[in-house]
Amino acid sequence: MSNIQWMYGHEPKSLPDEWKEKIRTMFFNETGEEYTYDSIDQLLIPEWSGNMLLIDQDNYPAADSLHGLLWALPHGLDGVRIAAFVLDAEHQSCGWGGKAWDHLVEISRSKEKISIQLEVKAENTRAQGFYRMRGLEIVRHLENYYKSGHGYEMKGSIKE
Ligand SMILES: CC(C)(COP(=O)(O)OP(=O)(O)OC[C@H]1O[C@@H](n2cnc3c(N)ncnc32)[C@H](O)[C@@H]1OP(=O)(O)O)[C@@H](O)C(=O)NCCC(=O)NCCS
Repeated sequence: MSNIQWMYGHEPKSLPDEWKEKIRTMFFNETGEEYTYDSIDQLLIPEWSGNMLLIDQDNYPAADSLHGLLWALPHGLDGVRIAAFVLDAEHQSCGWGGKAWDHLVEISRSKEKISIQLEVKAENTRAQGFYRMRGLEIVRHLENYYKSGHGYEMKGSIKE
């Protein structure tokens, strides 16, 4: 029996190297994106309620206790941008992503934010479906944004 929960995380740059390695592997396996320790540090995600880690409490603080993350940051005056959102394959399609999304919307509204935006690979139609179901739409095509090709910027209102 695992004891998995979303928890608030620390700034990415303060995470131990074993955790960064686990994050790198998760990003690569699930999105094909290659991160380095430096590019993880440079995401500049603050310690706030939009910095969430999916953790197996029974295995914490081992790096293997990490099963997913949602890293968002305030964007402009009244927006929120998701810089990274990934779950390991085992924990996808179980409602964990939806749960983190709902929490992000709730806390963003409480901070007077009115929109959420993010970048997604053009080929990642599953994630696009997830975001579309949650009111986001493609607002911009990002040519050669990713090493492997094009991306989209998606954005949606979170006004009640
Ligand atoms: C995109 C991602 C973060 C979504 O998180 P998730 O936990 O898989 O999503 P959920 O399980 O909450 O919802 C996905 C679907 O699973 C189904 N689902 C939800 N709860 C479920 C449950 N309890 N049991 C079974 N299926 C469920 C629903 O059909 C849901 O579809 P919906 O989006 O139409 O609501 C995750 O799939 C992921 O990490 N993908 C790979 C990396 C990636 O593409 N990241 C995005 C980069 S921009």
